[in-house]
Amino acid sequence: MEKTTRDRILQTLMQTDWISGQELADQLNISRTAIWKQIVSLKEAGYQIESNKKTGYHLIDQGDRLTALAIEQHLQTKQLGQQIVHLEETETTQRIAHEQAQQEATEGTLIVCDFQTSGRGQLGRVWHETRGAGIAMSLILRPEAPLHQAGQLTLLAGIALSKVLRTLEVPVTIKWPNDLLIADRKVAGILTEMQTEADRINSVIIGIGINVRHENFPDALTNRATSLKLATGKSFSRAKIVALFLNEFEQMYQRWLVDGFASFVSEWETYADRLNELVTLRTRQMTVTGYLRGIQSDGTLQIETEEGIKTFHSAELIYW
Ligand code: BTN
Repeated sequence: MEKTTRDRILQTLMQTDWISGQELADQLNISRTAIWKQIVSLKEAGYQIESNKKTGYHLIDQGDRLTALAIEQHLQTKQLGQQIVHLEETETTQRIAHEQAQQEATEGTLIVCDFQTSGRGQLGRVWHETRGAGIAMSLILRPEAPLHQAGQLTLLAGIALSKVLRTLEVPVTIKWPNDLLIADRKVAGILTEMQTEADRINSVIIGIGINVRHENFPDALTNRATSLKLATGKSFSRAKIVALFLNEFEQMYQRWLVDGFASFVSEWETYADRLNELVTLRTRQMTVTGYLRGIQSDGTLQIETEEGIKTFHSAELIYW
């Protein structure tokens, strides 16, 4: 990925303790005035940089930022996240991702932002954001797969994210198909959208929102939403979570392209919320109550009712 001068300065500051303006200018082959201007702009953007006439510049704290540079520190992928578009603020990363996908963005391009003003959720709902506290990202994929399998990518992303969060000792579960919960409260959501051409997939946009550092939520959400911070008391690096997710998801995605979804069923079930419990489910046509028995090899949900096992492609489990 082509790096801006600002990114190159930042990268150098991350790799050194103190560095003089002259050394920076020599290394980057630009003037000392240009360096100084970029340092001012970095400080304005929230980076804590100490300046000293004798010793030069020193990066004290880069904060919990979601920049490409911060994500790349932990990234081990070949394709996913190799192109990162970082925005300080945008309406919704989904819209930017759709635009980029139409403009031939390569597979794996990630749109990520520090603050989303009109985040979109499932079923036309709003995805709530607090400035600098959450992760809002949209990943562009271009799978060679039949249209009807695209929904499986929601489940796959849910498994990958659960795996990563469990590695960080966060006890998440998955509420089929697209919610991650901690003790019955939602901590992350996934919105998968598609662009098609005739009967083939042009792109799949996987939008993921994760509540990381929120200390509170609006009244309407207080009983049903949580953040990693509220649930565990710990502060997590947003950039690290993004990178760990991409590392995990890339491997799973490659396996899915070759082998399909069947081999992920048992893994999904280890994370499933309310497995073998009595649940209520709503579809456009009806409301059903029965035991949640897991998912089929194509990702559809299985509910055991008095009339036997019923399967669902799209429905909403009613919790709250
Ligand atoms: C849901 O649980 O209803 C899905 C929420 C998805 C939110 C993410 S945040 C990044 C991406 N951009 C959006 O506008 N929505 C998704």
